[in-house]
Amino acid sequence: MTAVEPPLALLAELTHRCPLQCPYCSNPLEMDRAATELDTAAWQRVFDEAAKLGVLHVHFSGGEPAVRRDLEMLVARCAGLGLYTNLITSAVLIDRARMQALAKAGLNHVQISVQGSDPANADRIGGYAGGHARKIEVAGFVREAGLPLTLNAVMHRQNLGELGEVIGLAVQLGARRLEVAHVQYYGWALKNRAALMPTRAQLERATATVEAARARLKGTLVIDYVVPDYYARRPKACMGGWGRRFLNVSPNGSVLPCHAASTLPGMTFENVKERSLKDIWYGSEAFERFRGTGWMPEPCRSCDQREIDWGGCRCQAFALTGALEAVDPACEFAEGHAALVASAEDESAGPAPALIYRRIGTALV
Ligand code: FES
Repeated sequence: MTAVEPPLALLAELTHRCPLQCPYCSNPLEMDRAATELDTAAWQRVFDEAAKLGVLHVHFSGGEPAVRRDLEMLVARCAGLGLYTNLITSAVLIDRARMQALAKAGLNHVQISVQGSDPANADRIGGYAGGHARKIEVAGFVREAGLPLTLNAVMHRQNLGELGEVIGLAVQLGARRLEVAHVQYYGWALKNRAALMPTRAQLERATATVEAARARLKGTLVIDYVVPDYYARRPKACMGGWGRRFLNVSPNGSVLPCHAASTLPGMTFENVKERSLKDIWYGSEAFERFRGTGWMPEPCRSCDQREIDWGGCRCQAFALTGALEAVDPACEFAEGHAALVASAEDESAGPAPALIYRRIGTALV
């Protein structure tokens, strides 16, 4: 058994509050209320413990992290600890002065999410009127503040036709990196799967568009490309492997191996209010549960890819099979793989149902 290494990065989900209502949000269906959020001092202690533990990167996320008025203070604490800080934001709540203040506090990098390139469609998908135009403006503030910018574009059947323009937008805004991420289906996205699943032909066109743009824009823009699991032959190494590289602290202080882990039944996730990050990382049952390869069923256990994909995504495997240890159906060797691909093809061929927006209360619709 290999020794457990310290985590590389911490995802700080400061809040689940967000002005946007994206129907593929990675937050759980049951979101934490504002009253349960960790306060400034508790977050600062988390960052102190993270730095001691060996974490190098802190990603501020949410919900929308800019909802928190103490964001600058939290960035400053991380900067003082020598941690690299990245703000993952919808951007709509940030003005020029706030971006300058964040840069002054020591922020290193900004990732702005876009819902497409067509303003009307993007605003419809995000459920926020005027949001797209605001993002374009804030991207300018990021560059003015001298910070590197990444654009995050979550793609699906309702915006995939805009991919070429999204790539053009990233170049126009001076982004150094574009993350083209097809929707991953758990949480809100799973509820909206039939409305979001692309056809295989759409996916193939998108892949060709990305490959051509990568060649054309070499040296100008780096494009990361995440394919939809349902059309893949092998699963992704979700989070780089459970409990190997990342930890996630939720708004109320629960420490999770991934952003969707709270969907897994029968598991207890410890809280920074009760135990140190170090003890949780090295000693909690939840982090141990799917760490390494010892927990794997066959055929994963004897697969030569087991230390590449680390058994795929536990949250997806559970969502699709109802079993925590199941082989991720995204794998071509999983029993349910053919059915999964068939369901994706069926859903993408039918008419898209109405979107269920991410709002407290709509998860039960
Ligand atoms: Fe939880 Fe993939 S999202 S393991």
